[in-house]
Amino acid sequence: MSEIVNINGNLFPPEKAVISVFDHGLLFGDSVYEVLSTRKGRFYTVREHLERLFNSAKGINLVVPYGFEELEGEIKRTAAAAKNEDTYIRIIITRGVGDLNIDPSSCLKPQLIIFARKAIEYPEEFYSRGIELIVSTVRRNIPEALSPGLKTGNYLNNVLAIAEAVREGAHDGLMLSHDGFISECTTSNFFFVSDGTIKTPSLEVGILQGVTRRNILIVAEENGVPYEEGRYLPEDLALAEEAFVSSTTKNILPVTRISGRPVGDGHPGEITRRMMKLFELKLDELVGL
Ligand SMILES: Cc1ncc(COP(=O)(O)O)c(C=O)c1O
Repeated sequence: MSEIVNINGNLFPPEKAVISVFDHGLLFGDSVYEVLSTRKGRFYTVREHLERLFNSAKGINLVVPYGFEELEGEIKRTAAAAKNEDTYIRIIITRGVGDLNIDPSSCLKPQLIIFARKAIEYPEEFYSRGIELIVSTVRRNIPEALSPGLKTGNYLNNVLAIAEAVREGAHDGLMLSHDGFISECTTSNFFFVSDGTIKTPSLEVGILQGVTRRNILIVAEENGVPYEEGRYLPEDLALAEEAFVSSTTKNILPVTRISGRPVGDGHPGEITRRMMKLFELKLDELVGL
């Protein structure tokens, strides 16, 4: 069980993994990234994550100097060297080393960084009892400023939102879009249930197109669970019977309190628990078991 960091194809133990202080990824958050995980020792949805990585890079005019297969190979090589039963992978492409000003044109070589470490295990009670959110005072990015659809190293508003939530004794912040609609949490997509229907903000609200979110909607479709995507206001949560969040590292995590008020009866709801079970089966299918 260990941690390995791959920098431009060279593998290092964490204490030897260093990059230049002139990298624009560090100086200006000028980078893109993805987080992947294995399940039962096997990778899944690698293609989806790499497609989103390339899409994020395109969105900030960063030309990735590696091909798809090459990156997949590097991810797997780094994970194998770290030798964990299940692996957490963070892959970052930075703008690279350049002058000490924000103009990226002095950065000639993007840098590849891949972290491989033991997969995150959230406390069991998060799944059995649910987590608490607050509706954050920090808004998600306005798409015309920096599209929330791009997964970049520029996550400072999400950093401020989770810090606010933790200060207030909650687990995460539910962020609103610039125009006041529910968008997503700081590193997860958000769903709530009302009238027996799963509701989740549509991509047009300005959210990251979560790989897990997409698979959850596929699972709902395949199993005849009613769902809709749309624009919802924080007031709509008053009628929520259930809520949950999703991400690659968390899968489906029930939400049982929002801003100090219980969601429904304050316990993970029936539809949420059903979706958690169905999603586990989907994950087994995705890893080929
Ligand atoms: C802002 C944001 N929304 C949603 C997600 C969930 O995306 P995925 O399901 O692809 O992990 C993430 C993942 O980290 C995120 O950063």
